[in-house]
Amino acid sequence: FSYPMPVNEPVLSYAPGSNEKNALKKALADLKKKELDIPMYIGGKAIKTGKKIAIHPPHEIAHTLGHFHLGEEKHVKQAIDAALKAKEDWAAMSWENRAHIFLKAADLLATKYRYQMNACTMLGQSKNAYQAEIDSACELIDFLRFNVHFLSEIYKQQPISGPGMHNRLEWRPLEGFVLAVTPFNFTAIGGNLPTSAAMCGNVVVWKPANTQIYSAQIFMRILKEAGLPDGVINLIYVDGPTLGKVCFSHRDFAGVHFTGSTGVFNSMWKTIGENIPKYRTYPRIVGETGGKDFVIAHKSADVDAVVTALARGAFEFQGQKCSAASRAYLPSNIAEQVKTKLVAAIQSMKMGSVEDFSNFINAVIDEKAFNNIARYIDNAKKDKKAKILVGGKYDKKHGYFIEPTVIETTDPKYASLCEEIFGPVLTIYTYDADEFEAALDLVDSTSPYALTGSILSQDRAAVELATNKLRHAAGNFYINDKPTGAVVGQQPFGGARASGTNDKAGSMLNLYRWLSARTIKETF
Ligand code: ALA
Repeated sequence: FSYPMPVNEPVLSYAPGSNEKNALKKALADLKKKELDIPMYIGGKAIKTGKKIAIHPPHEIAHTLGHFHLGEEKHVKQAIDAALKAKEDWAAMSWENRAHIFLKAADLLATKYRYQMNACTMLGQSKNAYQAEIDSACELIDFLRFNVHFLSEIYKQQPISGPGMHNRLEWRPLEGFVLAVTPFNFTAIGGNLPTSAAMCGNVVVWKPANTQIYSAQIFMRILKEAGLPDGVINLIYVDGPTLGKVCFSHRDFAGVHFTGSTGVFNSMWKTIGENIPKYRTYPRIVGETGGKDFVIAHKSADVDAVVTALARGAFEFQGQKCSAASRAYLPSNIAEQVKTKLVAAIQSMKMGSVEDFSNFINAVIDEKAFNNIARYIDNAKKDKKAKILVGGKYDKKHGYFIEPTVIETTDPKYASLCEEIFGPVLTIYTYDADEFEAALDLVDSTSPYALTGSILSQDRAAVELATNKLRHAAGNFYINDKPTGAVVGQQPFGGARASGTNDKAGSMLNLYRWLSARTIKETF
């Protein structure tokens, strides 16, 4: 079964008066009318524990979207048991039939559930309509279709044979179960991490962030409607320590597919390392973690291109993309022009609820994030080495709103220039326009992360110098563009250093991690 390279799912614009805008508005209104009671899904059964946790839109905390049922240790065990029980039949199912389930899920998302899915992402994660469309519709659909294509290409790969001898590679799933732990910031990542492993014939325990459950549950129901057999993916809601305790001490733990913070990923490695003797096989540890993504402009850069890269790169989805620009290095010859235009661009950004489609900025995800981001802003207000260029106000009375904020600093090691903030805060440092190479060294050396970054330049030699000197500073490197918005099949996504294992989501590189090949030689 060979599945050709798909085309990317077209992005709907939700223009005023369009049918799609009306349909999305209706989906939002329908969801707001009734509170959902959200069970876990273990072995295909809906599990309600009675320990209900409320879900509120981050931009309207007085409203309740529904409740999810919190699980405990026994539910993690049940999910692992259900996964292992489903394993044999799932791995034995023909690849054609497995693939059709995920292709059908992609089609269901593209048609029947598109607006409902986007509305869940908008309300649950405070994403505006356009950002939801490129995430929970297009990117997730693309992940499903492209991964089917990439996997069919992997399965075709076979070694050479000779007279009297036949060699083959059997692309086995891993032995055991895979744990998928997914973040709030992309519904598509929530969908991709369990399905990419499952597609390869693995069985999965999936734990989304609490702040993603509202959109995760609908995707789980779509998979079931598409024909995913019970137990292949089990969706549970438990706290991290309980999850880790059970999964990382289990003999059949075969790997973890993670997106989240560097700190959590580091502690996973440590626990897994300590438990190695308990496992039947070395687990695969795949993670995409933090970022401190940069934009560096060369003195030849086009001012408007720099402004657009920063305005969109730093502030779309409130800067909560792992790829978001959060530090900018501007050359002294154009710095003032860039700052003036950037301030004007930011002042034109409307902030408010996702239900008003003209709002570019919505709320940050929760109170913990709000307080952390506010702390950086407060420090910048006090510190002598920094000043607030624009924004700086925040308010959590109705929702977790933080103005898009630009901090300017004269210290290349200033905290907000080097540490991950994960919010609508960009820090700018101006360098001597004739010291480009030294500025590249700063970009490379002042942050431990290496996820995304951009160089803006109209001088080819400067582009080449930056590309070479920043070889390890970003896993996704953009020339004359913002550092966000990777598209599946076009820019495989991921970074190294403290940003993860760089197993490029939506590519063969990632799928290989969920396969364990057996070489079979037969002589005759
Ligand atoms: N894939 C997402 C982006 O590139 C994170 O913005």
